[in-house]
Amino acid sequence: MKYGHFDDNRREYVITNPRTPWPWINYLGNEDFFSLVSNTGGGYSFYKDAKFRRITRYRYNNVPMDSGGKYFYINDGESVWSPGWKPCKTELDSYECRHGMNYTTIKGVKNGVEAEALYFVPLKTWAEVQKLTLRNTTNEVKTLKIFSFVEWCLWNAATDMENFQRNFSTGEVEIEDSVIYHKTEYKERRDHFAYYSVNEPMQGFDTDRETFFGLYNGFDEPQTVLEGAPRNSEAHGWSPIASHYVEVVLQPGESKDLVYVLGYVENAQDDKWESKNIINKTKAKATIARFDTAAKVDAALAELNAYWDNLLNVFTIKTGEEKLDRMVNIWNQYQCMITFCFSRSASFFESGIGRGMGFRDSNQDLVGFVHQIPERARERIIDIASTQFPDGGCYHQYQPLTKKGNNEIGQGFNDDPMWLILGTTAYIKESGDFTILEEPVPFDNEAGSEVSLFHHLTVSFDHVVNNLGPHGLPLSGRADWNDCLNLNCFSNDPNESFQTTENKSEGSQAQSLMIAGLFVVYGRDYVELCKVIGKTEEAARAQQHIDAMVEAIKLNGWDGDWFIRAYDYFGNKIGSKDNEESKIFIESNGWCTMAGIGLEEGMVAKALDSVKERLDCEHGIVLNNPPFTKYYIEYGEISSYPPGYKENAGIFCHNNPWIMIGETVQGRGDRAWEYFRKICPSYTEEISDLHKVEPYVYAQMIAGKDAFKPGEAKNSWLTGTAAWNYYAITQYILGIQPTYNGLRIEPCIAPEWKGFAVTRKFRGATYLIEVKNPNGSMKGVASLTVDGKLIEGNTIPLMPVGGTYKVEVIM
Ligand code: GLC
Ligand code: GLC
Repeated sequence: MKYGHFDDNRREYVITNPRTPWPWINYLGNEDFFSLVSNTGGGYSFYKDAKFRRITRYRYNNVPMDSGGKYFYINDGESVWSPGWKPCKTELDSYECRHGMNYTTIKGVKNGVEAEALYFVPLKTWAEVQKLTLRNTTNEVKTLKIFSFVEWCLWNAATDMENFQRNFSTGEVEIEDSVIYHKTEYKERRDHFAYYSVNEPMQGFDTDRETFFGLYNGFDEPQTVLEGAPRNSEAHGWSPIASHYVEVVLQPGESKDLVYVLGYVENAQDDKWESKNIINKTKAKATIARFDTAAKVDAALAELNAYWDNLLNVFTIKTGEEKLDRMVNIWNQYQCMITFCFSRSASFFESGIGRGMGFRDSNQDLVGFVHQIPERARERIIDIASTQFPDGGCYHQYQPLTKKGNNEIGQGFNDDPMWLILGTTAYIKESGDFTILEEPVPFDNEAGSEVSLFHHLTVSFDHVVNNLGPHGLPLSGRADWNDCLNLNCFSNDPNESFQTTENKSEGSQAQSLMIAGLFVVYGRDYVELCKVIGKTEEAARAQQHIDAMVEAIKLNGWDGDWFIRAYDYFGNKIGSKDNEESKIFIESNGWCTMAGIGLEEGMVAKALDSVKERLDCEHGIVLNNPPFTKYYIEYGEISSYPPGYKENAGIFCHNNPWIMIGETVQGRGDRAWEYFRKICPSYTEEISDLHKVEPYVYAQMIAGKDAFKPGEAKNSWLTGTAAWNYYAITQYILGIQPTYNGLRIEPCIAPEWKGFAVTRKFRGATYLIEVKNPNGSMKGVASLTVDGKLIEGNTIPLMPVGGTYKVEVIM
């Protein structure tokens, strides 16, 4: 069952039934000011950091689901309703929500009145702008009482939810003209406040939550709205809110726009006050003035749309597969930009207080957006590398406001350093900017400790080399990519986190075949980079370590039909025929096949066939099989999950592309394509009721074949799945690969594909690429011409900047 449809021309998903099986959300903002907005107007805003600068309050884990947001209430004399159905839940005559690229519109029709709310964060603006358009479609005069609503968060989203003995006494507001200012803690250490304005003289307001709702009423029945009269309350402590009251009289056929601005301001310490206790509002007023008419708002939205035109113009495809085209051209790229902006911090599954920017996550995210905004990718790489230690180890995350690393979600994950090589080489291949390698980058943000970024890559590589176990394989540390395979944890205390408890790695033999494969893949990238920049000795040194790793994998990592997953603390195999449960895992088989280990000996094909046989199911490839059915203290969190969920035999969509890419190494385009479609959201749109989360973005996990409800997805939006699937489809299935000296074309497709077209902007030139597959092959380029001239090999050389070139590829 579907709840809406794609509108590809407008790059929107259109939701026509507000009762989606889970709130289907969108993200506003792409630089400093951000909002989450659901299809019924739920969600919240923050400035840069969802934990420390939460602007409006949101209630996770509440009843009903999705409580709190940017709401409009309309009292039209007959009914009280909201354009987004929620929170009033008054039945609407029609409803439509359109989620587009960083904007959302929600339209409701009731009693002949249309109300459409547009929400977006204009470019370079520290504010969310809302335009509420009201239209009278009847033959009578309509008098509408409009109440806006936001609830302020007392800045720190964590303490806001726990420290009530303080919180209930600190809240402060100021009201001036039609603007409500939230200034809690401004008179002490904070240099920032928030505000909410409307571009009409308001006829009333409320800023005290209890007065607005009534102490025992929910979001669906604010007492003031039901009574049709605001009370002009001024909040002192308790829970400050902002609600404007505006009365609108509409003649038959008439319409009216109201513009609301929800903004954030920072003032210098010596410029905080206008007079005693009166805040300096200059900056707020300037922003409000930028959007005080509907025409100005429309112009700002047009700018935002043009910005997205540019981002999405870099890579477009035409394959004849509508569902594929809309993912690659629009939604998958959009999701990659969102993961760039938010990492894993704020979604409807991530509370915004748990996680900052991950070292491994952010590096992987980079491959999904580097072609769109290479300058920001460059900055991100430097930020990430600055949290590394001299021995190549690193903090697992950093907080975006301070950019300082912390151990709050654990430390000592031995896969982390290698991802910096992926991120950096992906950036250079895209941009051609080798100067980044010379950039001085500190260790642990310590001034004076700067070395070149290239040196950071060397210590990343060597961190694996210097941490090998008795089988010549990488020690896993706290965990590798799989945060839940905690081989040095031995936790029997339910009050401690698997991620932050003591890492008992002293004397441990826990080694990871996932890191082994990862090391071979990105180690080779490191070697290639060294060669390109003339560091041949370093290249040779590194190559020896890679060769040794390949041998160690073949010797100690092969189980006969697939690659084992790891050795545990005591040196026993994990993911082997000898194990009672979880005999086979996806990660090691993904990385070792991507690395092509044992390709000639048939290991790659065998491992992939075992994956097909044991891990594949209707909804995708599960992580391990058979699932763990009991808790293993020596494996940790992975065995804590019920079978079929998360890291215990869930379909972890992040690592399915590793198998897709592995299949392309083996040349089996049909298999890669089959796996791609299974988890691709536009292909599961028809089963939205089972799938549950948004059909326009990937989820981290789909319940696996052993779960209670296979096919049900969770944790949409903020997941490495976005970048990895984009990487797999564009670079390995369609095969358009940026390299240091040109665009390599290496498709690996299903044999029934007749061909496809790609427009790719690369290093200042535009390539119109036409791939033809006359003989039904799966892989292999027979000829490549650029503007009719035959090129040797399958790499388009760099062509003069500014030009457009026609490329024909025959498979
Ligand atoms: C989550 C984490 C990611 C980790 C994965 C597997 O997605 O963000 O870092 O690799 O889980 O445990
Ligand atoms: C849990 C999750 C895993 C996530 C980790 C992050 O272990 O299962 O997916 O990466 O938490 O802290």
